[in-house]
Amino acid sequence: MSRLAGIDPARLAAVLADERDRFLQDHPKAASLATQSAEHWLGGVPMHWMNDWASPVPLYARDAAGAVIHDVDGHRYDDFCLGDTPSMYGHAVPAITEALSAQLARGSSFMLPTEDVPAVGRLLAARFGLPVWQMATTASDANRAAIRWARALTGRSQILVFDGCYHGAVDDAYVVQGPQGARMKPGLVGQVHDMTATTRVVAFNDIAALEAALADGAVAAVLAEPAMTNCGMILPDDGFHDALRTLTRRYGTLLILDETHTISTGPGGYTGAFGLAPDMLTLGKPIAGGIPAAVWGMTADIADRIRDYQRTAETGSSGIGTTLSGNALAVAGMRAMLEQVMTPAAYAHMRAMTVRLVDALEAVITRHGLPWSTVNVGARVELVLARPAPRDAAAMRASLHGPLLDVLHLGLINRGVLIAPFHMMMLLSPATLPAQVDRLAAAVDDIAALLLASNDHD
Ligand SMILES: Cc1ncc(COP(=O)(O)O)c(C=O)c1O
Repeated sequence: MSRLAGIDPARLAAVLADERDRFLQDHPKAASLATQSAEHWLGGVPMHWMNDWASPVPLYARDAAGAVIHDVDGHRYDDFCLGDTPSMYGHAVPAITEALSAQLARGSSFMLPTEDVPAVGRLLAARFGLPVWQMATTASDANRAAIRWARALTGRSQILVFDGCYHGAVDDAYVVQGPQGARMKPGLVGQVHDMTATTRVVAFNDIAALEAALADGAVAAVLAEPAMTNCGMILPDDGFHDALRTLTRRYGTLLILDETHTISTGPGGYTGAFGLAPDMLTLGKPIAGGIPAAVWGMTADIADRIRDYQRTAETGSSGIGTTLSGNALAVAGMRAMLEQVMTPAAYAHMRAMTVRLVDALEAVITRHGLPWSTVNVGARVELVLARPAPRDAAAMRASLHGPLLDVLHLGLINRGVLIAPFHMMMLLSPATLPAQVDRLAAAVDDIAALLLASNDHD
């Protein structure tokens, strides 16, 4: 049988079976809690994606601090998942615990702004270079709001996304490129509208396809991550962002950059680090220290156009925003994050840990002669199971071998390391220590050696 990303499939199956046995032996309490949870929770979990881990049952978390998490079975994990980004600056960060506790003691949700609001507005504007902001409860909400306004302001129905994107529970972005052209993402539940009627999709880095899709002047907005992080990781080619901005301006299309994951790049996200000029920018997950909160910012021009629209619009509910958006607790968390946690010093440490991890993983790849590679956007690192790393989502999808991913994820858990359960995404936090990075690389090394051993000789 041919090898999968350099690995013999029969050997892969044997190692995976061993890792599953080992997990179940080591996690009796998790197994028992999973059995109990199954009775009253759909799929046994409060949220279906808690079953996306490679383990036979989920780990049950007990507590976490910094970049370490403990489970109920008494195991300690070096955490490179960090809640899939909400805790990317560390768990239980004292400044955040303090700010949130103090606000909770004063009340959490008033339907009124608090004294922190002007300061948070100033902090966001200074950091991201966009003067006017709104809050939302999740990054998904922020993206939906930005799309809604883009359509309202331009009077156009179409949006454009890049193949392989993920922008949260935003049905408009659930369109992928299939062999016969655009299609709805498999798995989207209960959507009765054909999203391909109003969403166009092209491959990231394909400037000619982008221009062809924008040229009829019907597209309200391009919604994009500045570097794609949700289908493996795909970096923009040199010149791609210049072309994206030039073309969107040429055809009257707004540019919305979703920095929810690429905030890993630097204090001002990818936008700040590379001097990009979006019309709107969205950011959720970690922005209020891991409690539900998101923001979206806009240029002065967009803010003026929204004000003009509002002056003439019929009054009534806008369909944008929910009761808990902008609550006092979220604003307090955001202020503490922006002032005390998401600092240049924190990013300097994250960068140093990133370099250490990338070097260590590349050494593992070289040592074992594997056809794998690494890609990173700042402190977000991807181990790609192909070399060179694919430049578009179609090629990246072909490299994502389910069983190989399972064995790597489960093997890491069994060796005391957590990474996000999706592809091979790892986050370095200001709390991550060099020894943790070394343990992650050593665990990958160990699993690679096991996978490359012969079934007859272990
Ligand atoms: C780039 C990006 N945007 C938005 C979201 C949605 O975030 P949330 O699920 O918190 O709404 C995600 C989630 O993974 C994301 O990766």
